Amino acid sequence: MTNPDSATIELRMLMEAIYLKYSYDFRDYSGASQKRRVLHALHQMDCATISELQARVLHDPEAFMQLLQFLTIPTSEMFRDPSYFLALREHVVPHLHTYASLKIWIAGCSTGEEVYSMAIMLKEEGLLERSIIYATDINPHSLERARKGVYPLERMRAYTASYQMAGGEAAFSDYFTAAYDSALFDRSLIENVSFADHSLATDSVFSETQLVCCRNVLIYFNRKLQDRALGLFRESLCHRGFLGLGSKESIDFSAYAGAFEPLVKAERIYRKGAK
Ligand SMILES: C[S@@+](CC[C@H](N)C(=O)[O-])C[C@H]1O[C@@H](n2cnc3c(N)ncnc32)[C@H](O)[C@@H]1O
Repeated sequence: MTNPDSATIELRMLMEAIYLKYSYDFRDYSGASQKRRVLHALHQMDCATISELQARVLHDPEAFMQLLQFLTIPTSEMFRDPSYFLALREHVVPHLHTYASLKIWIAGCSTGEEVYSMAIMLKEEGLLERSIIYATDINPHSLERARKGVYPLERMRAYTASYQMAGGEAAFSDYFTAAYDSALFDRSLIENVSFADHSLATDSVFSETQLVCCRNVLIYFNRKLQDRALGLFRESLCHRGFLGLGSKESIDFSAYAGAFEPLVKAERIYRKGAK
């Protein structure tokens, strides 16, 4: 084994320090992209080295909160990858109709765009009233923004196009109220949504669910942590439950490859195996 360079050593020590001090576990995130994000944070937070950043973060919880925004990549979109939502509508929704009540887990929900997209789709399919959605993330700022459901008005044109490509046929503007440069999404969409802090790295399963969506989260994890998360999803899903991942994510090389079967492979939609 070659010796790691100093920055790699400092990075590991930073993640260990964060875990010991704040119980956020970033130790099994994928190395290269984590390093890039920390180097970006260094620059923004005016630190010369990762060790200097570590000292700041250890002594100042606000500095940790600032770093958390870089470590968690809080980016999202409504009806992101519209073909995925179309596939959910066409191939998963018919099965969801067979349940008297539904529990859906959106893991790594970020600022909530995926949650409102799901709620709109469920409403249009007549399923929202019988659904409870658990929307979880580790970033408290993102969860707060998700609860508020206020997004820049300038994004609504692109979101309307994605909504239509995802099979939406209503007027997308019916779901929000425009005020100045913001769009406030209809509160009734999240009446049965429970936003909560939950880490796929350290927490366990909290409910049985029929559908788990975890999109654009596993790409940031190493193989070991991906396996942990997929294990949680399998444990949470009911017999023959459904799993939706992001467009660059797959279970093919995971320890759980045999536990799920592809339902719409191109859209990374899987079904829990019968065994
Ligand atoms: C790029 S966003 C994805 C948002 C949304 N799922 C989507 O596809 O648009 C990744 C999210 O994963 C969350 N995340 C990172 N590590 C996590 C963990 N260990 N447990 C739960 N969520 C995590 C981040 O806070 C961030 O909000």
